[in-house]
Formats: sequence, C-alpha cells, structure tokens
Amino acid sequence: MKPIVAANWKMNLTLLESHALLEEILNQSKSTDAKVIFFPSFISLPSICDKLRDAQYAVGGQNISDKESGAYTGEISASMLQSLNAHYVIIGHSERRQFYHENDSQINDKILHALNAKLKPIVCIGETLQERQDDETALVLKRQLTAAFENIEQNEHHNIIVAYEPVWAIGTGQTAEENQILEAHKLIKKTLKSIFDNNIPTLYGGSVTADNALSLINIDHVDGFLIGGASLNSESFCQIIKNIT
Ligand code: PGA
Repeated sequence: MKPIVAANWKMNLTLLESHALLEEILNQSKSTDAKVIFFPSFISLPSICDKLRDAQYAVGGQNISDKESGAYTGEISASMLQSLNAHYVIIGHSERRQFYHENDSQINDKILHALNAKLKPIVCIGETLQERQDDETALVLKRQLTAAFENIEQNEHHNIIVAYEPVWAIGTGQTAEENQILEAHKLIKKTLKSIFDNNIPTLYGGSVTADNALSLINIDHVDGFLIGGASLNSESFCQIIKNIT
C-alpha cells in the first residue's frame, strides 16, 4: 500500500498564499509514490480542486456539516464538497472536538453524510494528556471508534481512513513515542477489524516532521501521516514525502 500523506492546512493561508505553497510543493515533488492529499481552507478548495483535477494529488475538506442540507447558516454539506471534485474529508479532528464541542454522535452523522456523498472520511481519534495519564487511552480510542462507525455498512470499509492523533502531540512539537504509537495502532487495527472485518488504513498525526518521518513510518501498522505544521512549508513537507518513499 502506498503511504498516505495528508496535509491539513487548518485555518492558515489566504487564497494567494495557498496557491503559492501548492506551486512550490508541485515543483519540488513532481512525481511521488505516496498518496498525497491536500486539505486547504474552504476558500482555496474550489480553485485547488480545479488545478489538481488531472493530477496525481487528491484534495479534501477539513470538515463538513452533520446535517444534509437546509437552514444552517455558515455550514458546508458533504454533497457541496463532493460537487467540487474533492474526494476526501477530515472528520472529528481534535480541534473540532475541543473548540467546537463536536461529539461522537455528530461525528457519526458526518461520516454517514460523507459516505453517502461518495467522500472518503479521514476519521480522527486520540486521547488527551489527562486521559493518557489516567490510563484511559485504550478505553477512549475504542469508544471513539465504536461511536464513529455505528450503523456504517460493512462494505464501506475501503472508503474509510482512520488517523490516530494524540491530542497532546498535535502542534506541540512533542511526538508520541514509538511504543505509544505502536500500541495505539495495534488496538485501533484490532478494533476496526472487529467492526469491518477488514484492514483500514491508519495514519499517525501529531508533530510529524522531516526528521522523524522515516522512523515513524517504519512503525508497524502506521500507513501514513496527517500533517499540520510541517505541511505549511514546502521544503519540510516535500522532505517528509521523500523520506518515506
Ligand atoms: P501537527 O498537526 O502536525 O501540527 O502536530 C497535526 C494535525 O492536527 O493533524
């Protein structure tokens, strides 16, 4: 399986800045064996989708509404995103859970809408520092997975990606230790197998850099990365891709 490298640009980059960064990245990594997916802001998404229409790179949204359509001012639906030729969507990122109070049931609704609209969700799960210190990591990961995939059809397994992102490792420069990542990914794969009876690609996210990417990709059950900070710089992002392919 090709490693998946997802660039989550979060609420960064104006339209012009995002195109400039994209251009730099395309110039530096003309062809790659990784599956690269860009997650720009909704402002940059339509033009980036157009630009990458026939390219080997894919595009996705950072979020969708938990509602299908209607009077929900400011929201963006799964089918709107799909109409742009975007193929992926990040769901349940810890920043959405933490700052916008998204709960497991909304995350489940979003996944259902994404799959109905033929979008592939990257479903983020991960424990907080407090939960890890309280020895609740396994419990939290299992709860998040079970709730996220309630009522999802078995045959959707090939459309789903999961990202393990310990909350305390996101944007902090403190990458999780290799044994912590291994343990979490083992548990995640096992839990997913019990839900879908199939192997689901599982990414790691949390302070991935060009320096640690190679050792992280060599951890068993790590199928790629969801990258925030290091994806905002063309050199570090392209170096990560180079180092793991
Ligand atoms: P980071 O973010 O790479 O800046 O830690 C990862 C993420 O939020 O997906």
